[in-house]
Amino acid sequence: MTAYDRLRFGGPTSRALWVDVPRAEFLTPVAPAWPLRTERLVLRPFVLDDADAFVDAWASEEWTSLLLSRPMNRAEVHAMVRRRTEPGDGEFFGLAVATHDGTVVGDSMLHLQGTGLSEGEIGWTILPEYAGRGYATEAARAVLEMAFVHFGLRRVVANLDARNDRSAALCERLGMRREVDKRGDFWSKGLWTSSYEYALLAEEWRAQQA
Ligand SMILES: CC(C)(COP(=O)(O)OP(=O)(O)OC[C@H]1O[C@@H](n2cnc3c(N)ncnc32)[C@H](O)[C@@H]1OP(=O)(O)O)[C@@H](O)C(=O)NCCC(=O)NCCS
Repeated sequence: MTAYDRLRFGGPTSRALWVDVPRAEFLTPVAPAWPLRTERLVLRPFVLDDADAFVDAWASEEWTSLLLSRPMNRAEVHAMVRRRTEPGDGEFFGLAVATHDGTVVGDSMLHLQGTGLSEGEIGWTILPEYAGRGYATEAARAVLEMAFVHFGLRRVVANLDARNDRSAALCERLGMRREVDKRGDFWSKGLWTSSYEYALLAEEWRAQQA
């Protein structure tokens, strides 16, 4: 039964019966053991001291030009990092990405979504001085593994400004498919621009690992 059927005939949808209700009853998201480690990187929850690493990038109009957010000053970056260190709703995982020697090179996030929290949105930034080394790809692979293995998600999406070629290339490297090409739907820094949604299903991710 689809949501449309439910309006016509009443009663819960098949998804509510078989996915959302059991998940809500039995599967409250529990974070994995931190940090996540990859060959070159460590992904972990933010600490207040991380803020300084992001100040210059967030002040840059160029670096922030394709992000939804406008540039931020030092105080705003510190406030953002402070918010990320506070307990949240258990559905948003914003992670600092550092090299093994502790140098912060960017961040990544996973936001669990959908009524049964069976879907997620992934996001990423790499500080300009560390771009072009494959760090974003390596971090995102770790976040996808957390999404599909630890949280058992069914589907992960990424939303981006259609002009963000580097982010789109990253999605393609990760094997994500461009599913949605929305024209002029996205208000960013004074103009309407277009956006893409990329997606990856658990079975597609598993096929990549084989
Ligand atoms: C989007 C963003 C994270 C992509 O970063 P990126 O540096 O292009 O991606 P990676 O870190 O995965 O690096 C990939 C590049 O490193 C190269 N590379 C070098 N050494 C590598 C290695 N050991 N392993 C893998 N790739 C390596 C790859 O060949 C690739 O090069 P190319 O871009 O010339 O093809 C970055 O541009 C960014 O943070 N932008 C600003 C914020 C932003 O827009 N965020 C996204 C919002 S949707």
